[in-house]
Amino acid sequence: MTAQLNGKVALVTGASSGIGRATAITFARAGAKVVVASRRIAEGEETVNRILDLGGEAIFVKTDVSNAAEVEALVNKAVNIYGRLDCACNNAGFGGAASLITDMLEEDWNRLVDVNLKGTWLCLKYELRTMLKQGKGAIVNVASVGGVVGFASYASYCATKGGIIALTRAAALEYAQQGIRINVVSPGAIETNMLATLPTDALVQLIAKHPLRRSGKPEEIADTIVWLCSEAASFVTGHNMIIDGGYTSH
Ligand SMILES: NC(=O)c1ccc[n+]([C@@H]2O[C@H](COP(=O)([O-])OP(=O)(O)OC[C@H]3O[C@@H](n4cnc5c(N)ncnc54)[C@H](O)[C@@H]3O)[C@@H](O)[C@H]2O)c1
Repeated sequence: MTAQLNGKVALVTGASSGIGRATAITFARAGAKVVVASRRIAEGEETVNRILDLGGEAIFVKTDVSNAAEVEALVNKAVNIYGRLDCACNNAGFGGAASLITDMLEEDWNRLVDVNLKGTWLCLKYELRTMLKQGKGAIVNVASVGGVVGFASYASYCATKGGIIALTRAAALEYAQQGIRINVVSPGAIETNMLATLPTDALVQLIAKHPLRRSGKPEEIADTIVWLCSEAASFVTGHNMIIDGGYTSH
C-alpha cells in the first residue's frame, strides 16, 4: 500500500545522504512538505533540489542534532514556515571507529552518545512539544540491528542503538493517549556512506550473514518509515521494525 501524506509536514534529520535523503524524498513522493535537516549544507540543499525537481516542497535547515538550541530552532522553523509538524524521522547518526571497549577513548564514546542517543532524545523533546499542541503526530526513530544483537568492536554504537529502541518504547507509552505514535526501525546492512566505511572483507562477511544475501537499499528503509508515519499504520506504536534481510532471524 502506498502511504498517503498529502498536505502533511514531515521532518527528517541526517537527510543529506543515505537513509535520511531517501526518506525525505519518499515523504515528498507521498505528498508531504519536507523539512530537510543536517549539518552538511551543500548535500542538504541537494536533497531539497531533488524534491523540488519532483514537484514537491522542501526546505533545508542546518542542524547538529546533538545541540539542543539547534534542534529547538529546527522544529520552530518547521512550524513557522509550514504551520505544523505531522511526521518526523530521527535518523541522524554515525557508526564511530571500530574499537575494543578497553581501548575506547572517552571523547569518542561521548560524541557517539551525544549524536546518536542524546540527539534522538532532543529531537523527540521538541517534536513532541509541537505535536502535543496539535493532539496528533507520528515519529520514527532510526536504530540498527546493532541495538538488537551485538557487534564486537562496535560496543558504543550498539549501546546507542539499543538505547534508541528502549527510548522509543518508553516514549510510545508516554504519548499514546495524546494521539502520538512513536516507532523505531532497525536496519541491517544498507548501501550508504556508513556501510562504505567498513573494510571490504568485513563488508563481505556481514552481507553473507544476511539470508537474502545482499545489502538493502536506503529506499527499502525509507518506504517503511513513511508507512509507519501514515494512517496505514494507525494501530502501530512502540514497535521496533527490524528491516534486515533476515539477519537477526539466525
Ligand atoms: N547503513 C547501514 O547499514 C545502517 C544500518 C543500521 C542503521 N543505520 C543508521 O541509519 C542512519 C542513517 O545512516 P546512513 O546509513 O544513511 O549513513 P549516512 O552517513 O549516509 O547518513 C548519516 C546522516 O546523518 C548525518 N549526521 C551525522 N551526525 C549528525 C549530527 N550530529 N547532526 C545532524 N546530522 C548528522 C550525516 O550528515 C548524514 O546525513 C544512522 O542513524 C545509522 O546509524 C545505518
